[in-house]
Amino acid sequence: MTKQFRVICNWKMNKTISEAVGFVKKIPPLLAPTYIAVPFTALNAVASLDIPMLQIGAQNIYPQPEGAFTGEVSAPMVREAGAEFVIVGHSERRQIFSETSEFVNKKVKAAILHDLMPILCIGESALDRENGQAAEVLKTQLLESLKEIEPKTFKNLGIAYEPVWAIGTGKPSTAQSAQEVHFMLRNLIQEHWGEDEAQEVFILYGGSVSPDSVEELMKQPDIDGVLVGGASLNLQTYSKIIELVRGDLS
Ligand code: PGA
Repeated sequence: MTKQFRVICNWKMNKTISEAVGFVKKIPPLLAPTYIAVPFTALNAVASLDIPMLQIGAQNIYPQPEGAFTGEVSAPMVREAGAEFVIVGHSERRQIFSETSEFVNKKVKAAILHDLMPILCIGESALDRENGQAAEVLKTQLLESLKEIEPKTFKNLGIAYEPVWAIGTGKPSTAQSAQEVHFMLRNLIQEHWGEDEAQEVFILYGGSVSPDSVEELMKQPDIDGVLVGGASLNLQTYSKIIELVRGDLS
């Protein structure tokens, strides 16, 4: 089965509504599905532009559909605003907002229930790696975050391996070492869910992906796409990554 290499962008807390709309209007024609997770405030405006091949997503949701959760936003709310996918469990949420895998698991379930494709992020810290704990940490995050997730869901599920030490540092993991981790993650999915699920799920690499690193990453058999932060905020680097992934777009 050949899978299309996916580029998913995470804008984090960047771009006002007008900046987001202005950016999206300027992107070159897209030849294959491309994904941008925008801030909540810009979701509806950007999704309403209906750019062919561009799927818009959210960067977070709260697990409950509604209620007394001041400041939170739910899956049905982002869905109606135009989101087709949602990033859950990003390391910034795990670290800054103390989100546990158990809580992230509830978000994965809420996303599935409300027809949003979940992009589950997992990743080890520099300290985990130094202590030789990376594989164990990743396994725990993966299995706890995907607890009780049904096999049929894997067709429309992304897992982003984002080593914390590589995010925003300009120093991505080598393609070789990312491949080794992706291979391990795929095997875990095979062991816990099944062979088809391990093939259907797409496993993305994230952490300082740029036009310089994307080509090597693409060559790896278990890297099905990339999750791009900083480099997706700039029209030039964003377009370059898309161009390298899709071939010449001119
Ligand atoms: P980065 O961010 O590409 O800026 O390292 C990736 C991410 O945090 O999703």
